[in-house]
Amino acid sequence: MNVLYTGAASGIAKEVICNLKDDKSVFWYLTVHTDKQLIHVKKQYQKNKNIAVMKLDITNLEDYHQLDYLDIDVVIHNAAVGFGGSLFDMSIDKVKENYETNVFGTLRLTQYLFLKFQKQKHGRMIFMSSLASILPISFIGSYASSKASLVMIAKTLQREAKLLGFPLDIIVIEPGLYHTGFNQLLFESKKMRNDCFQLQKERIEKEEKLLLFLEKKNLKSIVKQISRAIYEPYPLSIYRAPLFQSIGAKLYQILFW
Ligand SMILES: NC(=O)c1ccc[n+]([C@@H]2O[C@H](COP(=O)([O-])OP(=O)(O)OC[C@H]3O[C@@H](n4cnc5c(N)ncnc54)[C@H](OP(=O)(O)O)[C@@H]3O)[C@@H](O)[C@H]2O)c1
Repeated sequence: MNVLYTGAASGIAKEVICNLKDDKSVFWYLTVHTDKQLIHVKKQYQKNKNIAVMKLDITNLEDYHQLDYLDIDVVIHNAAVGFGGSLFDMSIDKVKENYETNVFGTLRLTQYLFLKFQKQKHGRMIFMSSLASILPISFIGSYASSKASLVMIAKTLQREAKLLGFPLDIIVIEPGLYHTGFNQLLFESKKMRNDCFQLQKERIEKEEKLLLFLEKKNLKSIVKQISRAIYEPYPLSIYRAPLFQSIGAKLYQILFW
């Protein structure tokens, strides 16, 4: 099985590879975002014969051509960016940037790979969304709404895939809060353009601290769900972790949506 993993230099992806790289039945095409990451990640896996690393910016169509002659069975759409700020006054350019990577980049690559999957008559697409797509959190609306869009895109593709004459699995992963540095950057990037939340500054900072406190330092639970999405012959349409955050988010959705 050949797996293409986007944005695989760090965080959750790095932990998944670390756990699964010894399985010689899987060949990994790890894609990274920058030249610096390419040098670093190539070095990191130089001893692993079942890992190839390439630079692929999911927003850059020209980068996709490297994939043309590769056999790919599974893609994990992991690459993402997160920009914080209030949707009341956040720069629309920043929101667009968020969507350009998380939604349009992911969808563009999905369409590109679909042609390959259609030719080979099988494939699996795994979309990394977030529990933030069902549980609204103040000041990360740009990121969270891009992840919610991704869920609807995947759910629609799931229905459409059922009409195809070959097996194409579409799977969503919704992680809760995990300590990878992603959430810190998300909160730090929050810049209020006007001062309308000045009086609530303390409260906002307290809430952020609480969220960061809830981050799971151990990534095992999300690695397990991603492994299930890769390997299970009859995968679920959605996997979530960690358990308590997933139950909390689902309860919120049932009670307050
Ligand atoms: N950590 C969490 O609590 C959490 C919770 C819910 C969902 N998630 C989702 O899980 C996935 C992995 O997140 P993570 O926490 O492991 O953070 P991460 O290490 O920052 O992973 C995201 C990766 O995507 C790369 N990337 C950004 N823009 C890209 C582009 N245009 N083309 C290719 N790669 C690009 C990043 O590279 P740069 O570093 O160069 O930007 C980074 O390596 C993301 O989809 C995230 O939304 C994470």
